[in-house]
Amino acid sequence: MKLFKGNIIFTKEKQAFDIIEDGFILSDEGKVLEVGHGLDDKYPDLEVIDYSNHLLIPGFVDLHFHAVQYGNLGIGLDEELLDWLNDYTFKEEAKFQDLTYARAIFDKAINHMIASGTTRMVFFSSIHQAAAELLMDLCSEKGVGAFVGKVNMDRNAPDSLLEDSDQSLEITRYLLENDREEAKAIITPRFVPSCSKDLMDRLGELASKGYPVQTHISENESEIEWVKSLHPEAKNYLDVYDKAGLITDKTILAHCVFCTEEERQVIFDKKAFVAHCPAANFNLTSGIMNAKLYLDKGIRIGLGTDVGAGHTPSIRQVIVEAIKMSKVNHMMDKTMPVLSLSEAFYMATKGGGQYFGKVGSFEKSYDLDMLVIKPDDLSLTRNMPILNQLQRFIYAGDNLMISAVYCKGKRLNAY
Ligand code: GUN
Ligand code: FE
Repeated sequence: MKLFKGNIIFTKEKQAFDIIEDGFILSDEGKVLEVGHGLDDKYPDLEVIDYSNHLLIPGFVDLHFHAVQYGNLGIGLDEELLDWLNDYTFKEEAKFQDLTYARAIFDKAINHMIASGTTRMVFFSSIHQAAAELLMDLCSEKGVGAFVGKVNMDRNAPDSLLEDSDQSLEITRYLLENDREEAKAIITPRFVPSCSKDLMDRLGELASKGYPVQTHISENESEIEWVKSLHPEAKNYLDVYDKAGLITDKTILAHCVFCTEEERQVIFDKKAFVAHCPAANFNLTSGIMNAKLYLDKGIRIGLGTDVGAGHTPSIRQVIVEAIKMSKVNHMMDKTMPVLSLSEAFYMATKGGGQYFGKVGSFEKSYDLDMLVIKPDDLSLTRNMPILNQLQRFIYAGDNLMISAVYCKGKRLNAY
């Protein structure tokens, strides 16, 4: 058992922060047993790991990150989605047939994520089986929780990335059946234009066995028009996936910028997850997603950096982007409320964490994923309230303020 002391702040509910000043977290076997004040009196024989004057917050969860695009971080963001895919992204992803290259990029990407406080990661890899297996192994070695998707693409792709449908399905099946304890495989049809109806149907059959799924949806208006022309039979974009059996309570839908209320209702009914990627949506001039509509409807929603369309692997920065986008929504339509810091923080922790189980909060029996934040000198000398210290870290902080990262009670040292 371990007893951690510090200023604890987390979001059990999205509406408000739970703050325990000079509190304790008791943990055993990587899980939270108890949180509160004065636990050192209750358990006098336990060694206290003293993080006094530090903030203890849950680890961040990134629901959408293209590990194979990390080498392009910050590049090509003056284009829109479909041109950006052709001019930058596909060319980069084709390189992941080379495992030496793959290892170098994956290693840097995961380290940068851990240094940014991300303990749980949902990855798109490339089409290549060996690269996806390597990514699973690296995640396991580094001690983070992860889902890794070998991407499926059997139409509208450059020759270097175009797969045979049978082989695409077989590799996916193999990875699902041979994944790792802490790095799970996930079914990953890239998006409708990249996957034939037949392949989507067969991936949907796999999903019906309880396997997780991730994909992109309704990110960009030209993309949506393309999907309409490919599937005139479908009611809407979501319906293409739904008819294939790909929308389940283990599905993550990235973007959802232009989803309609009808689509939101299906997402809610099926208990699917949404990965809100505000930085990427802005960078590729895709649009302003209205996360409030999803949160208020009770849809399960977390944040994604969406590297490389997103320019930062830091979920802390994506929290700020999410709030900014909601302010743009509010400026355009004053009836739309602004996302609060607690709502954005909730998405970054417990909202996305639900995809991994009991993750993203310090409630009893949650996995102990924890960041230790050393507030800046000014926060301490001015004796700032805990909430202000957190605000300052989120808006004006940097990764150097993160002095320790724990996943399932184990301190990560990969950076
Ligand atoms: N839609 C299909 N592929 C991609 C991708 O790699 N990134 C983003 N942002 N959207 C996509
Ligand atoms: Fe993406």
